[in-house]
Amino acid sequence: MSEYTLPRDPAELADALAPEAVLDAARRRTLALTDCLGDDELMAQHSPLMSPLGWDLAHIGNQEEIWLVRRAGGRPPLRPDLDPLYDAFRHPRADRPALPLLKPGPARRYLAEVREAALEILESTPRHADSPDPLLRHGFVFGMIAQHEQQHDETMLATHQLRSGPPVLDAPPPPPAPADAAGLPAEVLVPGGPFTMGTSTDPWALDNERPAHSVELPPFWLDTVPVTNAAYQDFIDDGGYADPRWWDPAGWEHRIRADLSAPQFWQRDGAHGSWYRRRFGRTEPVPPDQPVLHVCWYEADAYARWAGRRLPTEAEWEKAARHDPATGRDTRYPWGDDSPEPDRAGLGQRHLQPAPAGSHPAGAAPSGARQLLGDVWEWTASGFTPYPGFTAFPYREYSEVFFPAPGAPSPYKVLRGGSFATDPVACRSTFRNWDHPVRRQIFAGFRTCRDAVPADEGRP
Ligand SMILES: [Fe+2]
Repeated sequence: MSEYTLPRDPAELADALAPEAVLDAARRRTLALTDCLGDDELMAQHSPLMSPLGWDLAHIGNQEEIWLVRRAGGRPPLRPDLDPLYDAFRHPRADRPALPLLKPGPARRYLAEVREAALEILESTPRHADSPDPLLRHGFVFGMIAQHEQQHDETMLATHQLRSGPPVLDAPPPPPAPADAAGLPAEVLVPGGPFTMGTSTDPWALDNERPAHSVELPPFWLDTVPVTNAAYQDFIDDGGYADPRWWDPAGWEHRIRADLSAPQFWQRDGAHGSWYRRRFGRTEPVPPDQPVLHVCWYEADAYARWAGRRLPTEAEWEKAARHDPATGRDTRYPWGDDSPEPDRAGLGQRHLQPAPAGSHPAGAAPSGARQLLGDVWEWTASGFTPYPGFTAFPYREYSEVFFPAPGAPSPYKVLRGGSFATDPVACRSTFRNWDHPVRRQIFAGFRTCRDAVPADEGRP
């Protein structure tokens, strides 16, 4: 395997990632998502798919205690009695409300106690590039725990979306689409050739993003922007949900069984009336120019077939999101290696919805594709499997237990790019997310693609 390097010095990148700042940002978000509800609502289960928010809260502290206080700091356990209660592998989400969980008050005090110890440890722990402990190299374990907390915060936001009752969260709407959005080409060409998939050098990349390896792809045409609510309504209006030709056989069965007829949280005003959606406790007209959200993989796959197209593979998506054919470089983000400022990507829960399709021209990829990062997770055609040379780190339960047996199909589909609910610390072009193809509560949409022919590469 050849040596790949980020164009930016990994040490410089790790410094820019500043563990104390990202841990602090994650904690502010966790508290904002839980301080807005009373104890009863925090301990209630709002959907069998989700944990009570109070479980997420103490689980965040428990993981931080295990990895930062005990493992990185070498200190004795603060609350070893909590380990079995907050072990995600021991209790499925549906069973968690019945556990003797910490009430919100004690959970908040536990989180504060753990954080105080973690920050002392951070201050006294060398995190240099050649640390003999790979967990401490470039502060990886601190970055891992900040990403873990932010990932739970996104899950908690999905729980908020599933909760019924009056709204408790608010955020300004995203800016309207830029003036050029309406004139963008429907698709962009991603030229054929090799690119570097995954990373061996990004300091805080997780085990499933590693190692870097070269992948050769034929050229393809990719949607410039994610599929919009308006385009998805055309699929509905054309009887897309009633025509098994568009559906994967397992998807068709699921469509019948679950009685799917529109994205989750949508309802129609009469049989042919306008579409409305429920969003964090408010009902509002479906905005036609936003990327469609809350569709499962089977719906995305059916739409793509109806449109005469297909979902991109994970490799195609990643190439579009980081490879610059002009320079041959593979960057951390679609626009290069500079940090994901608000004008480049809709990340960080600044808004409680995706930005309109065509937003963030400053974050465009070399091909001209927009919004590959942020706004909505994008379903890909690919199952979740390890890269060649994968090594579990720092524990098997992070990724490895989700991989299928060699040669077997994965029960999960890979999602890429993050959503408006994803924090920048947990988002980069190599980042891989995965979920069951029936899941709709996550903040996921999609875009489609089609094969190109070599002659297309000469076209303007
Ligand atoms: Fe977790």
